[in-house]
Amino acid sequence: MKKKLIVANWKMNSGFEESDAWVADFTAKIKAKKNFVADFEAVICPPYLLIDNMSANAMDYVFEELETELAKKGISPDKLGEDKMSEMILSKKILSVGAQNCHHEEKGAFTGEVSAKMLIGAGCQYIIIGHSERRVFESDELVKKKLVAISKQNITPILCVGESKEIRDKKTYLEFIKSQLVNSIDKGLKFKKFVIAYEPIWSIGTGLVPSSEQISEVIDFINEFCKKELKGLAEEFYVLYGGSVSKKNSAEILSIKNVDGVLVGGASLKGEEFFEICIS
Ligand code: PGA
Repeated sequence: MKKKLIVANWKMNSGFEESDAWVADFTAKIKAKKNFVADFEAVICPPYLLIDNMSANAMDYVFEELETELAKKGISPDKLGEDKMSEMILSKKILSVGAQNCHHEEKGAFTGEVSAKMLIGAGCQYIIIGHSERRVFESDELVKKKLVAISKQNITPILCVGESKEIRDKKTYLEFIKSQLVNSIDKGLKFKKFVIAYEPIWSIGTGLVPSSEQISEVIDFINEFCKKELKGLAEEFYVLYGGSVSKKNSAEILSIKNVDGVLVGGASLKGEEFFEICIS
């Protein structure tokens, strides 16, 4: 069964100390649950400068858990063999790390920019692309170039789409979302895994959450469109909802048919609260 994908978008928040505390709080919650088995994958997208630290923290947790388990069973890690070791590491990995953006070129004279390839080197497995807070100064055309760049790397894009309040009121939101998909995904691109996050702009940071029917309508539309028009886009395909997700509403949102996970902004900044969303 597909594990729910729970993505934290920290935006321009938190520093080194806070991110260390975040991992400590999140993992303490796991340790407090006996024989915890995660039916979700959590992805933390912090600001660029915290990526390396978050990746190291996430792996430290995996190794600690592994050591404890092996010690309990009286098995020496050197005796395990590479394949078994990788399998066990993977089974303990609950936290992945992602970035909030990347540049569309691999390298070069682009002051202040970071490429997808560099992000992989820092431990990222995901990159958020085309968030509405970036689309203020990024066109569909630029988002498309970034997706082409990402398709050449072994990393998963999380493409954000979603309408403004004005477009929702005009009832042209499905056409608008279709145009975002058509104009930002090059036909023929192939990914191992592809994630689309439906994030209505009017819901981001406002506390206004669409009804389950409203979410369902758009999620189904995206699924149908990609199945028909973008055949072969990815081996694994996820559609998430994002916008004012909190521990109070996450269970209801995650229970909507075809919602494969959530993208969480404000409520992801505290490790404990984010954990509650993950297990909801
Ligand atoms: P929010 O942000 O959860 O604070 O509404 C979501 C997002 O912008 O991705």
